Formats: sequence, structure tokens, C-alpha cells
Amino acid sequence: MKTFYIETFGCQMNAHDSEKVIGTLIGQGYSQVGTAEEAELVFYNTCSIRDKAEQKVFHRLQQFKKEHGRGKTFAVLGCVAQQEGERIFEKAPHVSLVCGSASYNQLPAMLVQLETGNRRVTGLSLDTEDTFDTPLTRRDNPHRAYITIIEGCDKSCAYCVVPFTRGPERSRTSASVLAEARTLADAGYSEIQLLGQNVNSYRDPSPAGRDFAMLLDNVGRVAGIRRVRFTTSHPRDFRKSIIDAIDSNPALCNHVHLPVQSGSSRVLDAMQRLYTREEYMRRIEWMKAARRPIAITTDVIVGFPGETEADFEATLALLDEVEYDSIFSFKYSRRPNTPALALDDQIPEEEKSRRLTILQEKQRAIQIRRNGAYVGAVEECMVEGFNTATGQWIGRTSQNKTLNFLRPDSSLVSGEDLRGRYVDVRVTRAGPNSLAGECIQ
Ligand code: 5AD
Ligand code: SF4
Repeated sequence: MKTFYIETFGCQMNAHDSEKVIGTLIGQGYSQVGTAEEAELVFYNTCSIRDKAEQKVFHRLQQFKKEHGRGKTFAVLGCVAQQEGERIFEKAPHVSLVCGSASYNQLPAMLVQLETGNRRVTGLSLDTEDTFDTPLTRRDNPHRAYITIIEGCDKSCAYCVVPFTRGPERSRTSASVLAEARTLADAGYSEIQLLGQNVNSYRDPSPAGRDFAMLLDNVGRVAGIRRVRFTTSHPRDFRKSIIDAIDSNPALCNHVHLPVQSGSSRVLDAMQRLYTREEYMRRIEWMKAARRPIAITTDVIVGFPGETEADFEATLALLDEVEYDSIFSFKYSRRPNTPALALDDQIPEEEKSRRLTILQEKQRAIQIRRNGAYVGAVEECMVEGFNTATGQWIGRTSQNKTLNFLRPDSSLVSGEDLRGRYVDVRVTRAGPNSLAGECIQ
């Protein structure tokens, strides 16, 4: 039997693509091993969102330069594969397969080409109507499962490689999404995370014609599914019907990730984000007016070309105005093929670092304050793991907060594995990035 090893970089879409690639490989008679050293076929599923992410795969490949010719074959998948294409063969001559995510349907055929001695095999076409649906998906987590609902992206944010690396938008039919959700529920999964580069522009290609809010609601009504999350959203396509669905369907989690990128309408325009600060804030107001306490998280880029001190201060003021539950923040990184490459007025690296530090310190103070307000509250947690070092169970709330908790001593239940269970926990302490408490069941 042929063996393979796979390492994944980047976002949840990539993590889930790897689960599907693993299923496909197993379906073709391969078996997975835990290290690159043991494997005949080594896959890197790569990310090129920022320069650092892209460099990782070349570091990895460098480590194995001498291995080529000793019966080991290297394959580069994902966003770097799509972006760099055949240039990868020049940079790393020991690579034999380069394939972007829009061509994963061709993987079985490409594997056959490799097996029959082809030295260089590529799958780089973005010209597909298809999504990557596999009969077998090897899921990592036994309780929470990803489901792709839409692939690709039709936006053209000036900084972003994704439209080039993942191609145009393709939605799956609602029937196939719902069938997958039912299969997962029957297999014991209770939490589903719907994935897409822009889930809000989901449009059912079948005559049922569901939009994202309808699909979300339908998934939340699948028997056995207790929690549904979704990522990621583009504010331009974010409709109030999504909030109405969350308000009326208890299975939909109290959490929306709505990347803002900048608090300055001028910078948003330069980023080609297609909304102003005011339009973004209207969506935040929908969430704050909801009946349920919806946690709001975001992504921010500092140091986009031409970002002035006043623009940056507008972003800082936005953090105060929204009071996010958490943020992911990044220094702008120049990316190949993107419209922003042509912009003058790049911000020096030290200035980007300075802005990032100020932003993160402000957000840390907001999180300390916000999380502090949970002390005394009882939150339902899905138990994800156990920390042997601290003796605490690791739980996650509907709002996507980590809540570490102790179980009051009871000889009856000691040793019981709580993973995958839902328990009520009283919050007793709060830090900037997590809560701590005691199980009250
Ligand atoms: N530079 C810095 N951050 C970026 N992101 C996307 N492209 C870039 C880039 N060129 C960030 C955005 C996006 C998140 C996934 O990564 O904030 O929402
Ligand atoms: Fe990285 Fe974006 Fe590709 Fe995800 S879609 S792997 S974040 S470049």
C-alpha cells in the first residue's frame, strides 16, 4: 500500500479541503502516515494570503531537497500552487505535482499520472463550474464538522489573492448541503460549521433557490444538530435576514465574524471593499438590536498603502464603537496579482508594526472589559478537550469563547470523558482571551 503525509497551512477552507483530499487518497488505496519521513507521497496544502504564509512551504520543501530520487514524491496543493503554478518546479525541482483547489476534482486522475511515471503533473485550471465533492471525507474532529457551501470568490478586494487562487464563486445545491448535514448528524456530529470565502453570496443553483439565510436556517433544523456556525462573511452581502434567522433558530450560534478591514471609508474605498464605515455600522446595529447576545468578531489590516494616521485612528475609534469580542489583525502584505500592488505610498514596515501593536493593545483592553462582564453568568459549553496540565476541561460557548472549567469533585463521575458533551458552566474568572469557571451539572 502507498503511504502519504499531508501538512496543511492557512484557513479553515484549506483545513477542510485537506480532509476531502485525505478522503480521496484513501479512496484511491493510499494510507496516511504521521510524518513526512515515513511517507512515499508528501503533500503540502498551502496558503498565500500573506508573504510569511507563502514562505512556509518553500522552507518545508527546502528541508527535503536531498530526498528526491529516494522514492519520495512531493506535491504542492492550495493557494501557493495556484498562484505560483509551474514556477514551483523551478524553485523546488523535486516537486512532482502542483494543483490548485479548483482542480481537486482531477486529483484521482493526476495520481494515476504520477504512478505511471509522469515527472510533472499540474492542475491549475480555474475554469470550473464544479465544487470539490468527495464520497469520502476524513474528518479530524469527531463532534464538529465543516461543510463547504460555496467555493471561490467574485469580489476583488485590492489586497487579496483569494480570487486568483480559488477562482470564481460556485455554490453547492442546498439539497447536497442538507444531505451532508443529515449524514453528519446521523454519524454523531452535533456542530456544523458552514464554510465559504463569502458565505453571504451563497445562491442555491437548484430551483429551490435558497439564499444563505434560508440555508443556514434549514441546516439549523436538521435533527441532532445543536450548533451551526458560519465563516466567512463579506459585509456588502450580509443581510438582516441572517440576524432574523439567528434570533428565531436556537441552533444557530450567537456569533458573527464580519471582517471590516479598516474603519476609514477612504481606505475601504481604496481596498475596493464596496461599503463605507456607515454601511458597515448599520450591520453592527442589526446585531446589537438582536434578541440574542451576538458576539461580533472581525479582521483588520493596518498599513494598507496610503493609510494616514487619521485613517488609522478611525480604525481605533471603530474598535471602541463596536466593542468586538475578538479580532484578527494583520500588517498589510503585498501580494502578487493584486490591484494594490500598483498603489504608491507603501507604509514602512516599522510603522505598520507600530500601528499593529497599538491596535492590539486597545483590543486587549476591550476584551478584558467585555469578558469581565461574563463573571457570574452560566454558559452552555460544548466540551472540546481536557488540559492535563491544569486539570481543566476546555469548553466553547455559543459565542465562540473558550471557557475552561473544573468539575466539582464527585467520585461518581470522575474519569468520565466529557468531550463532545454540552454542559452548563458558571463563569468565575475572565481573561482577555478566555473565560474560566465551574461546571454546575
Ligand atoms: N495583507 C494582510 N492581510 C491580509 N488579509 C488578506 N489579504 C491580506 C494581505 N494582503 C487578511 C484580511 C482577511 C484575512 C483572512 O486576512 O484581514 O480578512
Ligand atoms: Fe490562505 Fe486565503 Fe488560500 Fe485560505 S483562501 S489558504 S487564507 S490564501
